[in-house]
Amino acid sequence: ESSTEVDISQVQPGQAMKAVFRKQPVFIRNLTAKEIQEAEAVDVGSLRDPQTLKDRTKEGHTNWLITMGVCTHLGCIPLGSGEGEVKGEFGGYFCPCHGSVYDTAARIRKGPAPRNLEVPPYEFTSDTVVKIG
Ligand code: FES
Repeated sequence: ESSTEVDISQVQPGQAMKAVFRKQPVFIRNLTAKEIQEAEAVDVGSLRDPQTLKDRTKEGHTNWLITMGVCTHLGCIPLGSGEGEVKGEFGGYFCPCHGSVYDTAARIRKGPAPRNLEVPPYEFTSDTVVKIG
């Protein structure tokens, strides 16, 4: 299936946008310094699906968190990628279907979801354009 090119130049730190890949939502989030700090402060060994923020972002673009917007429990679309949306107690995403809570690296921290939000294949084609897929 074809890839999607997304212009991310308008997404300020602390904001997110949605794109579509393989007919599913993708969350593209520009993390603030505080959100990066929170993600890096977590003891990775304590996580259900142990991954560092570095594992989940591209070198030199650690502030760009790009994940599928699909809860790994039963596939609902978590909240937290829109203005004023509930981000949940770990500051990332919250799935209202059965209460899965993701942190600022979109790692599962609470609730029934077994895995972190999936990171799709992507690359930066410039500092402001991401090619997903
Ligand atoms: Fe997200 Fe069940 S689908 S918690």
